Amino acid sequence: MGKLQNRIALVTGGTTGIGLATAKLFAEEGAKVTVTGTNPRTLEAARSELRGIARVVASDAGSEADIASLADSFARDGTGLDVLFLNAGIVKTAPIAQLDEAAFDESFRINVKGPLLAIKHFSPLMRPGGSIVLTGSIVGQTGIVGGSVYSATKAAIRSLGRTAAAELAEAKIRVNVVSPGPTDSGVIEKGATAEQSEATKRALIERSPQRRLGTSEEVARAVLFLASDDASFITGAELMVDGGWTGVR
Ligand SMILES: NC(=O)c1ccc[n+]([C@@H]2O[C@H](COP(=O)([O-])OP(=O)(O)OC[C@H]3O[C@@H](n4cnc5c(N)ncnc54)[C@H](OP(=O)(O)O)[C@@H]3O)[C@@H](O)[C@H]2O)c1
Repeated sequence: MGKLQNRIALVTGGTTGIGLATAKLFAEEGAKVTVTGTNPRTLEAARSELRGIARVVASDAGSEADIASLADSFARDGTGLDVLFLNAGIVKTAPIAQLDEAAFDESFRINVKGPLLAIKHFSPLMRPGGSIVLTGSIVGQTGIVGGSVYSATKAAIRSLGRTAAAELAEAKIRVNVVSPGPTDSGVIEKGATAEQSEATKRALIERSPQRRLGTSEEVARAVLFLASDDASFITGAELMVDGGWTGVR
């Protein structure tokens, strides 16, 4: 029997990368999975890749109207919800001297406000024994040049995970954060030339104790652990999936 047999799961930002790999793994483990995204091209690609495996829904993870409407659809279906993987996120980097206010607002809208509102709207639908997993990042704990806004959003996620774990403990819902290190999810290639992304990868590999990037599947396995009953005594925690990036020198 799968680790998520007969569970109902929602993965925000499940059309590519870590979210897509996790949606596939959840489904393999017996869950009925819905994934969200916003980009018409990746939504279409995910629909064809996840056909028969998961439902793909266009829904902006930073919009309360979209979140509430998706929660209403789960409520109308009457299926409840067991696993909520709040993974949608964007990465915008720039030195503080070149800080762009619109990039700040959009980053906090999608990376922080969205997960908060998702917990507000979805947790009332969750059954006892349910699990919420938030995607943080190693940069919530370490300083990197150009990371001010993105890193702050991920530090906020770390904090949100603790508060939500405290508030939802009585409802028997666990809340944890999975914090990946540099992962070869396709995000490094976004908005970069082939040469730029190769250079970024080389620099990240050079700094990594395991001398490699992680894979989306490796992060997905950690998310599955936190989502399943294997982690039944774990809440308010942060699991680093980073090849030793934060803990090893
Ligand atoms: N890869 C890494 O090295 C790394 C390291 C640490 C943390 N992370 C975190 O891991 C998460 C997944 O990133 P990834 O590496 O897998 O990159 P990715 O492939 O770019 O995945 C991002 C996902 O979020 C979705 N998304 C973005 N804006 C959204 C919105 N407004 N509403 C709904 N969905 C939205 C994207 O779908 P659409 O484009 O269709 O909207 C996509 O499915 C992010 O939270 C990221 O910060 C990644």
